[in-house]
Amino acid sequence: MKKLLTSIALIASMAGFAGHASAAEEGAALEHAVEHAAKSGHYPILKPKEMDWSFAGPFGTYDKGQLQRGLKIYKEVCSACHSMKLVSFRTLEELGYSEEQVKAFAGEYEVQDGPNADGEMYTRKAVPSDYFPSPFPNKEAAAAANNGAAPPDFSLIAKARGVTRGFPQFVFDIFTQYQQGGPDYIHALLTGYQEPPEGVTVAEGTHFNPYFVSAAALAMAPPLSDGQVTYDDGTPETLDQYSQDVAAFLMWAAEPHLEERKRMGFMVMVFLAIFTALIYLTKKSVYANKEH
Ligand code: HEC
Repeated sequence: MKKLLTSIALIASMAGFAGHASAAEEGAALEHAVEHAAKSGHYPILKPKEMDWSFAGPFGTYDKGQLQRGLKIYKEVCSACHSMKLVSFRTLEELGYSEEQVKAFAGEYEVQDGPNADGEMYTRKAVPSDYFPSPFPNKEAAAAANNGAAPPDFSLIAKARGVTRGFPQFVFDIFTQYQQGGPDYIHALLTGYQEPPEGVTVAEGTHFNPYFVSAAALAMAPPLSDGQVTYDDGTPETLDQYSQDVAAFLMWAAEPHLEERKRMGFMVMVFLAIFTALIYLTKKSVYANKEH
């Protein structure tokens, strides 16, 4: 029966019903992948798609417009659940904002301070040297509000997540300087929510997502959808664009000095090349009149 169905699908696709047939095939392939993951315990079910990031490669740089859009998404959507404790407002100047803008931005947040002269803690308006405040008072409260799974802190998430790429991919990655596993994963996760394939059920309060690193479903409901956040620079307001922008922003949060690191790496390579040439010339001149 299965064989017959496959042949029908094949013939249909050849007859020009490619869309339908490939969707059915994809569904079957996903179902198979889910079963395989459940049996072997190896997640994610699907590997993230590689995206085209401005900060990739030896000369990569951040796109400030994109980082600003990502910050907007973090502020308006993700910060309701995810903290970002290691990032101070002050560093937002690197995104192209003025000191005044950062001051005004920080002023929209409240942070806890103290104790005051009476020994009591109090809240005050945040200033640029403060860090992004957490939406929950502690981890337990965060978990209790989210079906038992605490939303992880965002400070280093883009560096803490990535999917093992396996042999031989990781060998090529050394030469192509692939370091975008984190943002690729975040983008794939945010755009990857879908109905579970037939016959697959997920625990209550969890949402099927074949890109999630540690199971078939996670406690976070799809946080983004088309048109949810307004962009004032004319960038398309789509789930895919939002996901790229927030992933790029999280990469910056985790590695604000990426550009300097890459520049320094390049200078080191130039230095080594010149140094090698000098050493070679020295060797030649020292041994020029020696017999071998
Ligand atoms: C309503 C609360 C809520 C909102 C809003 C939310 N998240 Fe989450 N998020 C969670 C929870 C809960 C988890 C933990 C899920 C789990 O481990 O099952 C999580 C986990 C994650 C993870 C880690 C997945 C992993 O590999 O462990 C990423 C990345 C993430 N969220 C990104 C985002 C982004 C980006 C946004 C904003 C666009 C966002 N989240 C908005 C609740 C939220």
